[in-house]
Amino acid sequence: MPADGTSRPGAQEWVPPDADVERLTEAAHACRGCELWAGATQVVFSAGPPDARIALVGEQPGDREDLEGEPFVGPAGRVLGEALGAAGLSPDDVYVTNAVKHFRFEQRGKRRLHKTPDVAHIRACLPWLAAELAVVRPRVVVALGATAGRAVLGRTVRIGAERGRVLDGETVPGPGADDGYAPGVVLTTHPSALLRLRESADREAAMTALVADLAVAGEAAGR
Ligand code: URA
Ligand code: SF4
Repeated sequence: MPADGTSRPGAQEWVPPDADVERLTEAAHACRGCELWAGATQVVFSAGPPDARIALVGEQPGDREDLEGEPFVGPAGRVLGEALGAAGLSPDDVYVTNAVKHFRFEQRGKRRLHKTPDVAHIRACLPWLAAELAVVRPRVVVALGATAGRAVLGRTVRIGAERGRVLDGETVPGPGADDGYAPGVVLTTHPSALLRLRESADREAAMTALVADLAVAGEAAGR
């Protein structure tokens, strides 16, 4: 057991073998692979067509996603939808999921404040990401932010230095998929980062960069 007293066996024993995305989604409701299930309303799995050529990986569900049970239905989802549209991609073109499937937060009075998952949570939840991406088999995985980047590439990533290029996704050193999750991986910023920018000029520049990165992914995926 980790030093903080939590039980974190990892998700593997809850992941059914040879399951499609629908069965994985059902099975994830029972997951006790780490302690995050206990505070959350429900598991949030994925959205979008399982035969998509592009998979987008976020960090973890937010407050709204936790309540609704769907990824990217809150403010970050609005930003993402706008960016996808500007990059010439429709929601039907992308499978959308998260590195961590339960909402991690800190209670402050009535508010639930997002808390970034630890590496241990990413690792615990990785069997779900590996299983779903093995079904989807996208041509390109887009990692939205550093948490997703770590999950997909199995290492610390520097979004600023590595974003917007198609990285080799087939030689992933970390746990998860021996031969990676997709031929190509594109790192970009998390859409939530745009929501934190106060100046509209900064937001516009960040949106332009996010759109450009998504367009790179779209191109590499052949659409
Ligand atoms: N942020 C994420 O990373 N994922 C969601 O589903 C919502 C917000
Ligand atoms: Fe399981 Fe992931 Fe939820 Fe932890 S965060 S309980 S590993 S689904």
